[in-house]
Amino acid sequence: MPPLKGVVLAGGTGSRLYPLTRVTNKHLLPVYNQPMIFYPIQTLVNAGIRDILVVTGGQNAGDFLRLLGNGKDFGLQHINYTYQEGEGGIADALRLAEHFADRQPICVILGDNIIETNIVAAREKFERHARGGHILLKEVPDPQRFGVPVLEGDRILKIEEKPLHPKSPYAVIGIYMYDETVFDRIRRLKRSARGEFEITDVNNQYIEEGTLSYSVLEGWWTDAGTFESLLRANNLVAQGGANHIGTPAAARGSM
Ligand code: DAU
Repeated sequence: MPPLKGVVLAGGTGSRLYPLTRVTNKHLLPVYNQPMIFYPIQTLVNAGIRDILVVTGGQNAGDFLRLLGNGKDFGLQHINYTYQEGEGGIADALRLAEHFADRQPICVILGDNIIETNIVAAREKFERHARGGHILLKEVPDPQRFGVPVLEGDRILKIEEKPLHPKSPYAVIGIYMYDETVFDRIRRLKRSARGEFEITDVNNQYIEEGTLSYSVLEGWWTDAGTFESLLRANNLVAQGGANHIGTPAAARGSM
């Protein structure tokens, strides 16, 4: 497989965090000692990914450039940027990465997802398959807030988005690895009941074809898009201390 490229999705309005997000983008809010978006970027860098696209949107897109520049904080020489008009959903934001991906495989991470450890093992598992997609699961106390896999043995039958009655205790976390067919799959999507192009529908297309594999993530995982999860993210990172793997050089004071 050619080298993985990385895509960080940081569009959307963050309306669940109003009024915190009335004058700024959710992914620029602090999580303990760093802006939220630092964590997903560092997750990609820790997985050995050097070619990264940030998809942003809204009224504060320019602030990402001021904050991240060419990615020096992460040891990068360059970061790519693109702009999502409106908030058509995660798959709608991802479609903007087609030109950047240039038929290479991609690792997509949601800008509000923070993990304790790393995704190196998942990356290796994904790269052992010549084609398809790879997702990560994590057991959570509140799966109804997420995409939830329906499992039979160790096989995923399908993924249900925010089911009222989850059929497993797992969340599909916001880190996805895809081959180059992902953009054709996005073109086939229809808007969901909540009016968005859903990443869960993309994953279900891979499942129907039998080409979606998965890993279970080690260590903690959280999103940060609600008041409760933002608080949890702050606490988890703070408890992780200075050795938190996602701590860039800048935050360790070496710049
Ligand atoms: O966090 C994991 C969950 O993320 C998954 O389990 C769900 O299957 C998936 O649908 C998603 O659920 P949420 O409803 O929590 O996603 P949310 O709308 O909060 O969007 C998450 C990130 O995706 C957000 O921080 C930025 C990006 N995004 C989202 C939308 C709607 C965009 O870039 N553009 C968008 O239009």
